[in-house]
Amino acid sequence: MAQDPKYALPTYTPTARAFHWLIALLIFIQFPLGFYMSYRGNEMPSVNEKGEPVKGVWDALTGYLYSSHKLLGLIVLTLVVLRLLYRLTQGAPRSDPTVPPALTGISHLVHWALYALLIAVPVLGYLAISYGDFLDIFNFRLPMLTVKNDDLSKEIFEWHELGAFLIIGFVTLHIIAAVYHYFVRRDRVVERMIPKRVA
Ligand code: HEM
Ligand code: HEM
Repeated sequence: MAQDPKYALPTYTPTARAFHWLIALLIFIQFPLGFYMSYRGNEMPSVNEKGEPVKGVWDALTGYLYSSHKLLGLIVLTLVVLRLLYRLTQGAPRSDPTVPPALTGISHLVHWALYALLIAVPVLGYLAISYGDFLDIFNFRLPMLTVKNDDLSKEIFEWHELGAFLIIGFVTLHIIAAVYHYFVRRDRVVERMIPKRVA
């Protein structure tokens, strides 16, 4: 990846940084949205038409939250595929030479695990709604890619949830690493993603 002359050290290009921060922002919205809508749809106490207590509220707001989650998830999938294509063709700035090779190796593992999960989780989400026939999104219907199979849908939703928790775990590690580089090692790794301009 070419070095941007406006910055004093090799940084990610503006395109790579735009992908990184846009995907990070959408992921930070997608998690609370996913947990809250799932709570409303499956757990929130309510009463049925006979006045009996039931779990789950399927009103307009719940439907709107589910549609938003599916739409946002498909946007994340598209952006991650584009970002990976860009990453594989344009590369990344060379690693900071002051960082021990073992740390660099671990950070690369975390980055590639994140890319894999950011593809797998939305694909599993789509497969689960396809097997379960929950394809409504706002006033549209997404294409059905599979036959209907409720058991498989339930199982894939479990994988979707597990993958989502793995993303939370790796993103937490990733943010701890950024804090460590910035405040403890005081190196310039974070500046590769949030660069300081040279005058
Ligand atoms: C990177 C993208 C995505 C992330 C991080 C994500 C994350 C989550 C999370 C955290 C939950 C709540 C899990 C629970 O408490 O049960 C969830 C549920 C769900 N997700 Fe996603 N999701 C993503 C993409 C998608 C996509 C693309 C679809 C479908 C097109 C989708 C469909 C669903 C559905 C229908 C549920 C509700 C399951 C239920 O009610 O039990 N997700 N997702
Ligand atoms: C406050 C939040 C975040 C901070 C401070 C941050 C910081 C950084 C920094 C400094 C790098 C460059 C590391 C290096 O050059 O060795 C980086 C790369 C990366 N970040 Fe983040 N990040 C954040 C959130 C996220 C999130 C939420 C995701 C995933 C959803 C993510 C995924 C990645 C990936 C995959 C790379 C590797 C880029 C590549 O070389 O292709 N980051 N991040």
